[in-house]
Amino acid sequence: MSFLELCRQRRSIRNYTAQPVEKQKVEQILQAALMAPSAKRLQPWQFVVVDDKAMIEQLAACKQYGSRMLLEAPLAIVVAADASLTDTWQCDAAIAAHNMLLAAEDLGLGACWVHVYEREQAEEHVRALTGIPDNLNVLCIVSIGYKNEQRRTYELEKLPYEKIHYGKF
Ligand SMILES: Cc1cc2nc3c(=O)[nH]c(=O)nc-3n(C[C@H](O)[C@H](O)[C@H](O)COP(=O)(O)O)c2cc1C
Repeated sequence: MSFLELCRQRRSIRNYTAQPVEKQKVEQILQAALMAPSAKRLQPWQFVVVDDKAMIEQLAACKQYGSRMLLEAPLAIVVAADASLTDTWQCDAAIAAHNMLLAAEDLGLGACWVHVYEREQAEEHVRALTGIPDNLNVLCIVSIGYKNEQRRTYELEKLPYEKIHYGKF
């Protein structure tokens, strides 16, 4: 599959089957994260891989809206980063998370970003559950599993090309 085709096919998937994600696929998703670019190659990110059902269900309760899909997910990867290392921590962690979203799609899985940073008490909730220390900020949780829904792929003809400005805005 070409990279553009991968981008076209990737959608946020919020319904998963109960099938566990194979260890090899989990490792490949993490490798994709660890190859993400970061400013000055500081790699400020840290990842907590959670496959314990009870723990993932508790993660799902981190905020009122937008995290329910975790209830079904067989795998969750919490993305945190050290803001004292670099003021680009949020960009760096977001790129790593996005690498995981793309890797999941490439491996025939579905995934979704669950935002945590500055959302209600979500960060404290996730920190307490996972043991992520106070010096790290928790950006998001990536929920991952085999798809239990079909979503339309992006259509190249319908992209918002009006957002592109050539030469000048
Ligand atoms: C920074 C960011 C935060 C997001 N937070 C959530 C979230 O908390 N819950 C959720 O269900 N989806 C979340 N999403 C997924 C978006 O809703 C989704 O990417 C968007 O609707 C576009 O759909 P697509 O991913 O299928 O292309 C988030 C995405 C990003 C990039």
